[in-house]
Amino acid sequence: NVPFLEKEGTMRTLIRNGTVVTSVNEYEADIYIEDGIIKEIGKNTSRDAEEIIHAEGKLIFPGGVDEHEHYGSFGGRLFETTDAAAAGGTTTIVDFAPQEKGVPLIDAIKKQAAKAQGTACVDFAFHGIIMDPKESVFEEIAQLPEVGVSTLKLFMAYKGTDFYSDDESILKAMMKARECGVTMMVHAENADIINVLQKKYLAEGHTEPVYHYYSRPPVAEEEATKRAIALARTADCPLYVVHVSVKEAMEAIREAYTQGYPVFGETCTHYLTLTTEYLAKPDFEGAKYVCAPPLRPQKHVDALWEAVQKGWLQAVGSDHCALEGGFETKKRGLGDFTKIPNGCPGVQDRLAMLWTEGVCKGRITRQKFIELFATMPAKVVGLYPQKGEIAAGSDADLVIFDPDYEGVIRNEDSLHGIDYSPFEGFPVKGRPEQVYLRGKKIAENGRFIGPKGEGKWQKCRPYAMCYDYFSLN
Ligand code: URP
Ligand code: ZN
Ligand code: ZN
Repeated sequence: NVPFLEKEGTMRTLIRNGTVVTSVNEYEADIYIEDGIIKEIGKNTSRDAEEIIHAEGKLIFPGGVDEHEHYGSFGGRLFETTDAAAAGGTTTIVDFAPQEKGVPLIDAIKKQAAKAQGTACVDFAFHGIIMDPKESVFEEIAQLPEVGVSTLKLFMAYKGTDFYSDDESILKAMMKARECGVTMMVHAENADIINVLQKKYLAEGHTEPVYHYYSRPPVAEEEATKRAIALARTADCPLYVVHVSVKEAMEAIREAYTQGYPVFGETCTHYLTLTTEYLAKPDFEGAKYVCAPPLRPQKHVDALWEAVQKGWLQAVGSDHCALEGGFETKKRGLGDFTKIPNGCPGVQDRLAMLWTEGVCKGRITRQKFIELFATMPAKVVGLYPQKGEIAAGSDADLVIFDPDYEGVIRNEDSLHGIDYSPFEGFPVKGRPEQVYLRGKKIAENGRFIGPKGEGKWQKCRPYAMCYDYFSLN
């Protein structure tokens, strides 16, 4: 293993006879890599290389692109735990960089990037988050593309905190974003519904984690999603609704798109695989599953599978937020469910869960899996085709996947650095046998083989996929 940054001359790798799986097709081929870039894909290539991998019987995926993480924000552990991404077959993460109140928007990006540089184990990019919604900050949105940021998230939930933005602020931000090719993301939950219900349930003496669900009912997400769509239509701005968890919210997105508006959405691994019943686990165990929006009943899980299969939602992110301190930190909410910090780890298990629960159970095709796991996330943030694709000219971020492996998710095998996994005990079929980042092997059989800190900051292009609509009209 020669670190590619230190090696002199050309580094050449040849992956022979694997089955290349993309979002549109699959075929047996050799992949020839030079200096971290895919140079040639073909049958029986005569290329020579320092490293030759025999991949007969294996599937070759593009490295995963996970466009929803919280490293260091919302109490999530920092970038040294991105080895979990690598081990799980994700080679690019797109992290949220929340602005500090009173500090310019792009300073947050630079600060977050400084934390990632020299630490991150996979490539990284950023979304902005406005924490100080006011005119001068909306003006700063135009600077985001200058630092390689093409997406911006605003929160309709979390009223009473700096995260919250009212409708006026969201509309103004959307108008500005539209002028400079930035895609707007929203956390769509009605903050007032949540506040009233939280107080009501606490007053009635309900303190357990499952009241996190009851106080954030599906209608709170449905209403906010519809309002976000109305604001985006007013601003004529592309909208990407993150972590969609509710059937009716998904239907509102589908309806808007079919009516001709550039409205898209992401769901997350846990909304496809876990239900509200996990929140009701006894002995405060349910707190481990507290995230926002909350886990939903089975009806929504089924609707979300149909949505990803039919293309009504575009991508599956992890919303990875491995809270520093793990379960102990969740215990801040003992006796008051509103004080349980939101967030669950998930970056390492996104591939295994989506493959096992999706492809192996016949819910999605292999092509759809690649689309949701890598290709679409890269398109949404403006990193495609450098990321999320297997093609000549793309970065050699590759997963050599063993489809025959059978195992069980166990936290003791997880690298996210906390004491539990929400997917503990799930049987999985298949696993990333080898993971390559820009032509360099970084993980093997679920273990990160380092070195840490070689992830590079990737600059996203503005006018990304959600803007394609406009070029047609
Ligand atoms: O529970 C979650 N999702 N925590 C992270 C913050 C967010 O809203 O995405
Ligand atoms: Zn959110
Ligand atoms: Zn999130």
